[in-house]
Amino acid sequence: MANDPKTSPAQTAEASASAGTTATKPRRSILDRHALIERSASLLFIFSLAVVSIGGIVEIAPLFYLENTIEKVEGVRPYTPLELTGRDIYVREGCYTCHSQMIRPMRDEVERYGHYSLAAESMYDHPHQWGSKRTGPDLARVGGRYSDAWHVDHLKDPQSVVPESVMPKYAFLAETKIEPAHTEALVKTHRLVGVPYSDEMVASAKADFWAQANPDADTDGLLERYPGAVVSNFDGQPQLTEMDALIAYMQMLGTLVDFSTFTPDASR
Ligand code: HEC
Repeated sequence: MANDPKTSPAQTAEASASAGTTATKPRRSILDRHALIERSASLLFIFSLAVVSIGGIVEIAPLFYLENTIEKVEGVRPYTPLELTGRDIYVREGCYTCHSQMIRPMRDEVERYGHYSLAAESMYDHPHQWGSKRTGPDLARVGGRYSDAWHVDHLKDPQSVVPESVMPKYAFLAETKIEPAHTEALVKTHRLVGVPYSDEMVASAKADFWAQANPDADTDGLLERYPGAVVSNFDGQPQLTEMDALIAYMQMLGTLVDFSTFTPDASR
C-alpha cells in the first residue's frame, strides 16, 4: 500500500495508525463518485437530461403565466396596405440579407441609429425582419431620415449617391406597376396570425392602398385608421409601382413611437 502512487501520504499514515485495530475504509470524495457517471454513458445521459430539463423548466415555465411578453407601446399600429406590400417586396428582394432591423441597446448603436428597438415595434411583423447580418446599416429607424427622392436615386443606383456602396441596383422596381389585387387577402392573412386589422380596415384596404401614394386623394379615413402614415407620391411617377410601396414601407420604419415622451416600464 505504501508503494501505491494513488495513496496519499496522509492516508497511508492514517491507515497504518489504525492497522490492527478496526479497519477503516479509505474515504471517497464526491469527485471520485463523479467518475462513475463519467464512465457510464447511460448514467451520463440520464443525469445530463435531468440537468437540462431543470434549466429548461426554469426558463420556460414563467412564460406560461405571463399574459403577454411584449410591453404595449403607444403609437405602434398595424402596417397600411401599401406598407405591407412594400414589406413583402423587401422580403422578396432579400434586403434582410444585408440589412438588420434591430438596434441593440449599446451606446455605439444608439448613437448611430437612434433609440434601441423595442419588442413592440416588430410585434406586427410576420415574419420579423431583425436580420442577422449587416453588410449595410441597420434600417430600423431609417424612416424620415432621407427624402423620397433620395430613396428613388439610391434604389435605382446606390453608387450614384454613395460611390463605395456594394448595394445592388433595384431600378426595375420603378418599372413594375402594382395593383391591389391581393391586398384584401394579404391584410386578412395577417389578421389570421394575430394582427388586429378591423373589418373596416379590411373593407377599405384597396382604397387605402391607392390613397397613400396619392397626395391629392382624400386621406382622412386612411390617417384615422393608420395614424402617422406618410402620404406621398413616393417614386414621383404617375403610376403606382413597387418602388412606391417599398419607399412607403421604409419611410415608416421606426417612426411610430414618439421617443420624446416614451418611458420604458421597468415594472415588467
Ligand atoms: C449586398 C448587400 C445589400 C443588399 C442586398 C441591399 N443593401 Fe441596402 N445597403 C447596402 C450597403 C452596403 C449600404 C450602405 C451604402 C449605401 O448607402 O448604399 C446600404 C444602404 C441602404 C440604405 C441607406 C441606409 C442609411 O441609413 O444610410 C437603405 C435605405 C437601403 N440600403 C435599403 C435597401 C433595400 C430596400 C434593399 C432591398 C431592396 C437593400 N437595401 C438591399 C447593402 C445592401
